[in-house]
Amino acid sequence: MLRSAPIGVMDSGVGGLTVVSEIWRQLPREQVLFYGDSARCPYGDRTPEEIATFTFRALDYLVDRGVKMLVIACNTATAIVLKRARMRYRVPVVGVIAPGARAAIAATTARRVGVIGTRATIASNSYKNALYETHQGIEVRSLACPGFVEIVEADLMDTHHARSFIQESLTPMQGSGIDTLILGCTHYPLLAPIISGALGKGVKLISSAEETARDVSLWLTEHNMNRTDAASPHHVFLTSGDVSAFATIATKWLNSAVDVSYLDVWADAGVDAL
Ligand code: DGL
Repeated sequence: MLRSAPIGVMDSGVGGLTVVSEIWRQLPREQVLFYGDSARCPYGDRTPEEIATFTFRALDYLVDRGVKMLVIACNTATAIVLKRARMRYRVPVVGVIAPGARAAIAATTARRVGVIGTRATIASNSYKNALYETHQGIEVRSLACPGFVEIVEADLMDTHHARSFIQESLTPMQGSGIDTLILGCTHYPLLAPIISGALGKGVKLISSAEETARDVSLWLTEHNMNRTDAASPHHVFLTSGDVSAFATIATKWLNSAVDVSYLDVWADAGVDAL
């Protein structure tokens, strides 16, 4: 494992860019190799078996490319595979759920926390378990929000339809007494202004991105694995979906033009795309 190697980051689509943006901010010398599996997105409506199959294939690919660490920048994939991934790979694997839970515990004063995520993430109870593991006195309200990921992937965040759909979906959270809401899907920070508008300023929104990047940073420092090369970092973005759609969203959310290439890890392995 080389300290100059990139950090491998995967998501089911563009949502993981919210984590990449924090990695860039906190660790500007590091290089990122990103794989977004937009061809199979959303993962959140799939079975745990499908989610595990797709996620392991993507992670295997990143490991084969020599990454020094894996970041599963997808709550759904973290919920289903994190424990197994830590046994499968010799490089460290960072997920997004424990960091999000930690940030929420630090933020809540009412001790009432809401969690929104995909169907698979909410059904897994991973956030509830992570919150209770640290703080049994927290009251947790969970809500699956199918449809949100598709809005982000299609870059429809600024439409009237998206706003009213999101507001309506969040009705069960209104008046629930929560003062903190975990955006338990890496796509959701891209909808933060609409979500905040629906729940009011009294509810703090928590994205796992910042704490996840901190976990990455801590591991690199503790293991003396920070990249020290003088050359500027070179980032690689790969998507199994539409390259120009990915590039448009990436450029907008990373505040910089990025090179995006098409790659489907299933086709790359010589396997028919699922
Ligand atoms: N970004 C993924 C997550 O954090 C999106 C899930 C999906 O593909 O449905 O859960």
